[in-house]
Amino acid sequence: MEEIAKGIIYIGTEDKEQDLFESQYKLEEGMSYNSYLIKDNKTAILDTSDARTGRQWLSNLEESLQGTTPDYLIVHHMEPDHSALIGSVAEKYPDITIVASAKAIQLLGQFQPGKTFRTMAVKEGDTLELGSHSLSFIAAPMVHWPEVLFSYESLTGTLFSADAFGKFGALSLCGFYGDEDKDWACEARRYYFNICGKYGAQVTAVLKKVAQKSVSVIAPLHGPVLRKNLEYYLDLYTTWSSYGVETPGVFVAYASIHGGTAEAALKLADMLKSKGCPKVAVSDLTRDDRAEAVEDAFRYGTLVLAASSYDAGLFTPAYDFLHSLQMKGWQKRKVALIENGSWAPSAGRVMKEMIGQMKEITQIGELVTIRSRMREEDIPALEALADAIIQAQ
Ligand SMILES: Cc1cc2nc3c(=O)[nH]c(=O)nc-3n(C[C@H](O)[C@H](O)[C@H](O)COP(=O)(O)O)c2cc1C
Ligand SMILES: [Fe+2]
Ligand SMILES: [Fe+2]
Repeated sequence: MEEIAKGIIYIGTEDKEQDLFESQYKLEEGMSYNSYLIKDNKTAILDTSDARTGRQWLSNLEESLQGTTPDYLIVHHMEPDHSALIGSVAEKYPDITIVASAKAIQLLGQFQPGKTFRTMAVKEGDTLELGSHSLSFIAAPMVHWPEVLFSYESLTGTLFSADAFGKFGALSLCGFYGDEDKDWACEARRYYFNICGKYGAQVTAVLKKVAQKSVSVIAPLHGPVLRKNLEYYLDLYTTWSSYGVETPGVFVAYASIHGGTAEAALKLADMLKSKGCPKVAVSDLTRDDRAEAVEDAFRYGTLVLAASSYDAGLFTPAYDFLHSLQMKGWQKRKVALIENGSWAPSAGRVMKEMIGQMKEITQIGELVTIRSRMREEDIPALEALADAIIQAQ
């Protein structure tokens, strides 16, 4: 069991076989469920694990405790992927005190009906002395759920950041520490925007509080432990939570039934590249991972959305994609639209309506309408759209 900082032991688990997180996000390299143990005059367990890896977690705990009886179980986040073993811990150690926010304690009663626990509610600014280690709590409401707390351990400068700074992937596959990870940002970004994207203001607020602490280690509930080059991770989080543009370029997303819309979207992508657009990312919304498309819509400053008309509306993969963006609070972006229809094109109208309900989204150029298949006459309108996109960069 790895000691991540003096007296702080990693006791988390991983599930390399898991293919779907939260019943919707595809996992290429499994998932980790991080948990920590602080051994001092008092012993504190920091979060538990998902039920899927429960047996492994209980065995890690027992091995790390080496016969010591734990005094506290600190719950930063009551979502079941971290809290599934609270009942097992309390059964085994009936004198243990569950330390969490008042809201988390209320949720504990809902998730574990009929059980009673010895609890201690803590709030922003409260501290828990363990000996030489001392934990101070930082409220992080809606950094995924309303009850979330971060904690800061002052001896080692370790920030326990709950789901923030988390990432998909099992640590034995992606790297235990951030600096051992092949590409932390890719899966951390997909995780962030799909899990916390809507709550940028709340993430910004907690980052401001964190900036007042001297942080040496970030210990999240998923993904690698971060201990080197922390500005890199903090800067990315600052950009992401403020809906800033991370990578200059354009994201072209298309949803096509029979290929006509795809052809027009790919033509526009080629035009953008030949006109010197720094980066053009492309996604087929009928096939590619939706969460990845959501991530790219947040990553780049401009989205081109091309879609077929469908039953007097918008082809469902495009509709679902826009709905996901709406749900995740997509904002402060430029958008260009291409529609395709054979008898009464309707995709553009629906796309405009949906985008009109989002914050600070500006349309670039005119809606380009393709009738069934792209023709020579359509090229000037696509060229004009490409020029308008380049100019707006
Ligand atoms: C189930 C279904 C419903 C459609 N509804 C409409 C429609 O309401 N209005 C329209 O103009 N075209 C409609 N279309 C036709 C397509 O939008 C049109 O053929 C378009 O060219 C498809 O582009 P694609 O080649 O990218 O699939 C529909 C097609 C299908 C299969
Ligand atoms: Fe969560
Ligand atoms: Fe989580």
